[in-house]
This record gives sequence, C-alpha cells and structure tokens, in this order.
Amino acid sequence: MNMVKITVNNTKISVPEGITILNAAKSVGIEIPTLCYHPDQFVKANCRVCIVEVEGMKTLPSACSTAVTDGMVIHTNSARVLEARKVILELLLANHDANCLICHRNLNCELQKIANQAGVRVNRFENVLEIKPLDTSSPSIVRNPNKCVRCGRCVEICRDVQGVNIIEKIGRGTEIEVLPTYGKYLFDVACTACGQCSTVCPVAAIYEKEEIEKVWEALNNPQKHVIVQTAPAVRVSIGEEFGLEPGSIVTGKLVAALRRLGFDRVFDTDFTADLTIVEEGNELLHRMKNNGVLPMLTSCSPGWINFIEQYYPELLPHVSTCKSPQQMFGALAKSYYAEKTGINPADIFVVSVMPCTAKKYEAKRPEMSVDGIHPDVDAVLTTRELGRMLKQAGIDFDRLPEEEYDNPFGITTGAAVIFGASGGVAEAALRTVYEVVTEKTLDRIDFHTIRGLGGIKEAEVDLNGIIVKVAVVHSLSNASKMMEMIKAGKAAYQFIEVMCCPGGCIGGGGQPYHTNDEVRMKRIAAIYQADKNLPIRKSHENPAVKSLYAEYLHEPLGEKSHHLLHTHYRNRKK
Ligand code: SF4
Ligand code: SF4
Ligand code: SF4
Ligand code: FES
Repeated sequence: MNMVKITVNNTKISVPEGITILNAAKSVGIEIPTLCYHPDQFVKANCRVCIVEVEGMKTLPSACSTAVTDGMVIHTNSARVLEARKVILELLLANHDANCLICHRNLNCELQKIANQAGVRVNRFENVLEIKPLDTSSPSIVRNPNKCVRCGRCVEICRDVQGVNIIEKIGRGTEIEVLPTYGKYLFDVACTACGQCSTVCPVAAIYEKEEIEKVWEALNNPQKHVIVQTAPAVRVSIGEEFGLEPGSIVTGKLVAALRRLGFDRVFDTDFTADLTIVEEGNELLHRMKNNGVLPMLTSCSPGWINFIEQYYPELLPHVSTCKSPQQMFGALAKSYYAEKTGINPADIFVVSVMPCTAKKYEAKRPEMSVDGIHPDVDAVLTTRELGRMLKQAGIDFDRLPEEEYDNPFGITTGAAVIFGASGGVAEAALRTVYEVVTEKTLDRIDFHTIRGLGGIKEAEVDLNGIIVKVAVVHSLSNASKMMEMIKAGKAAYQFIEVMCCPGGCIGGGGQPYHTNDEVRMKRIAAIYQADKNLPIRKSHENPAVKSLYAEYLHEPLGEKSHHLLHTHYRNRKK
C-alpha cells in the first residue's frame, strides 16, 4: 500500500494514498462532523457539513469526498471552516422544524449533535419551512417531512440494500424533496415496513410508530394482566441505549428492567422460537416426504412476508405456514396460558419487545387473532422504544441485578437465541431435523458456513443418505436474487431462511441508532456467545416445549397446532 505524508491541524501523519480526508483525520483521533455520510453507504457529499480548509485550494472541500494527496496541509477547525460550517448548519435549520425538545430524536439526533458542537446558538437566517402534514399511513413507521435534511440515506438503503426502491429524491436545489414514489402515502406504495430507512435517518424524519403510551395505559390498568415477551436480538442490543458497548449480553438486566416497569410476567420469545423449529422442521419433513412445494421458505420475518406478498406472490406456496415466534407467543398467551392461569383472555394484554418495525404491522393483521376479536399481540415496542420507556421510568439499567424469565415461557435453548442473527433459524432447524430423522446425536452443532454477513450462504446435512441443502439470505435485495433463482429453477435447496434486515434481527429496523456493519458483527458475536452459554442448544430438547406438546398441543402439525400456530398469506401486489 502506498503511503502519503499529510499535515492535519499541524500534526504530520502518514496515511494510505487515496483515503479520504475524513478517514485520514479519524485515524489520528480528529472527528470531522458529518451528516449525509454513513460508513456503510456511498459517499453522497450533499450536506457540506464536513468542509475543511486545504492550503492552496480556493474553496473548502468536503472531507467525506476528497482524497488526500501527498503533502496536503489540512485544517479542520480554522476560523474560516468554523464560520462556514455554522452558516451551513444555520441554513439547514432555517428549513427545519427545529423543535428539539418535543422531537423523537431529542438527545439522539445527528443534526442536533453537530449543531451543538459547532456552537450554533442563534440563527441569522429566517425560518422558511413550509410545514407539511406527517405521513402516518403505515402501521410501522411515520414520515415527518418537516425534519428531513435530504441526505438521501433512506433512498439508498431502500433501493440498494432492500432492493425495494419506493422512496426517491425529487426536485432540484432547494426544492428537493424525499418522498415515497409518486408522492403517495407510504402505505399506498409497496413498502415492507422494514424500518431500515429509520435506522439510517440522521434526524427524526422517519421513525417507528410509537406504542409507548398504549403500554403505559395497560400497565396502569388494574383490570389488565400485562405480560411481555422479548425477542432474541434485543438482549444483545438494548444495552446500547444506555451507553453499553454493542454486543453486551444483558438478558438478566433486561428481565429485571421489565419487572420494574410493572409487567406481571416477563417471558422470552425464544420459547416460541424453539416451538417454531419443532413445527417448521416437521413441516419441512412433511413436504419432503409428500412431494410438497420445495424449497420451503421461512416465515418468521414479517418484513420478508410483506415483501413476498407484494413482490413475489406467485411464490407464496413455498412459504412455511408457521406463524412467527412473536405471533405463536401471542396465540399461546391467549389460549394455553389463559387456561392454565384461569385469566380471561380478554384481560390479558400482550406486549412484544422486538428489534423490528414490521412486527407492528404483523401484530395488526386480522389473521393474527385466535378468537377473531382480540389481537394475539396487543402492542409492539421496538428496542429503541423500550429504551425510551426505561428512561422515562428512571431505571438505571446498568445497575440492575440479573433476573430470570418467568415460566412457563421462560425456558429456552441456544438454538432459539441464534434466531436473532442471519443463519440462526436454518442452523437451529438443522440441529433439530438431523436428530429427529436420524435418531443420532449431532456432534458438531455449529454450522459456521451460514453465519455472518455474507449475502447468500449455504450448508447441508446428510439425513440417512438424503442430503438436505439449505440456503440463507438476508436483506431484501438478496431475497430478490433468491426468488429469481427459484423462478428459474436454479435454487437446488430444500430449505431457505430469509431475513428481511441486513444481518438478520440484530440489524432490525427498530434496533438502536448508529447500527452499521461493525456494530452488526459485534451483536452477532454476542448472539453466538449467548448460544454457547446455555446448557441446552437444540430446540427439540427444550423441556418446556415438550410439556406444552404433552399437556396441550399433543403433536407437531396437529389440529391444535394448526389452529394456533399456523397461518396463511395473501397476494398483496400493488
Ligand atoms: S430532528 Fe434533530 S435537530 Fe431536528 S428537531 Fe429533532 S432533535 Fe432537533
Ligand atoms: S420501511 Fe423499508 S421498504 Fe419501506 S421505505 Fe423504509 S426501507 Fe423502504
Ligand atoms: S428522511 Fe431522513 S434519511 Fe431520508 S433523506 Fe430525509 S433526513 Fe435523510
Ligand atoms: S458529510 Fe460530507 S458532504 Fe455531507
């Protein structure tokens, strides 16, 4: 690698040739403020917040888009830079609904942070913003055009990572707007509710539809028995809301925190992740034995279900009929648990804590109601919303003790935990299907080839001479490639795991802000560590799942299972 010598703020350094000024400065501990820049995305260079002064250049170049050259002398904080940066920010704020105190991103906003760092205390420009209505049409996310800084990050993630391409930048110069296609409402275009746009938005222009008030109301209603379930991926990310390192495993503190919020019982969605494996594994074997539709596609990611229903409805017969673990939990809470505890299902209020915005939409689907009257899941909080609720309640998360989940839905396995990462569902299924079919113990239960951030991953197992091939895809652009392979007859797999979000649920649209690939890798490592920490690592060995079948469901794919745990899908092509 060729190195060049440059000077940054009077310090001489040697950096690789071609590196940007932004990264060169970063390598010696100098942070240049950015707004449109995102480490996982193409450089857009449209906000100009990252300007610096380079000796010999007339204009102030953007640090994110300018490569260093040998001998370059850079000033990131000269009087000229500081004044120009202030003017840029004041102009941005003059076209912004800067009511920070009542804003969703208050104290967690990239624009607020850099305006504060830049010392913007007055705005010399008149506010010219024309207030537009909020788009609240989606059950999962809200779009507030009055906060948009037109950075284009949402456009890129929706188009390139999700392959969906339903938000676009239209107009020119100061007239630019970022809108769903043809200026429609989000719910009127084929949005998957994945929320990936909300994770990259630097401000409060796209955010999850909050259900915090609804949950507080239930918690304060003495008539209600309020129970909560926590998804696998939340235990390795909620700590970030309280300043802990990405990848901190905080399962016990999460349970303790939820108890202190006032939930009557704290349960683990991992329990129904194990149940999903038993049902889905049996569904796969049933399809294989009976010439059923293969490859079978997983169904636990509702953003993915929204995608296939709207973009590839002709492939819906490939999708497993299993409800997602969230919805299996809700259905059992209002049937099995209600019967076991003698509580009227109408008085049970089920809250989910999910890494996902699409789960909000899923919980509202009419199919997701056992009695056809009450929803199985009453409210869905994202990891970010739970963080806000805990702060409202003044809970000092890091100082909480470690506590255990309640029973009967508190006993889980390592196979269930890994549902939180891309490849986890397939790995959990392989661990179970192998042992159920061969009646032998699977000694090497770690399937490394389907772990990590690779776009399309593969593994196989030998079931008494029948080779079962599985594939794993995550993010909808990769899902799209796999659907085209199936249509072309080129997907020679029996089982395909599809997760909507990059990296799986650990990178879900409701996870803490500042998610990038580095953070994703840390959360993934934590998920596999949590798997290793558990005494039981195969779903079919979960003793509570076994009791559920013995006492109530009787058999996988049986009548009761079918009624409570399985569903159907619809062609929703727009
Ligand atoms: S988006 Fe950020 S800068 Fe704008 S009002 Fe909200 S917190 Fe303040
Ligand atoms: S929720 Fe997903 S599909 Fe919808 S606009 Fe955002 S990124 Fe695109
Ligand atoms: S909605 Fe957010 S991410 Fe999209 S352009 Fe506006 S500020 Fe950027
Ligand atoms: S961050 Fe460099 S131009 Fe926006």
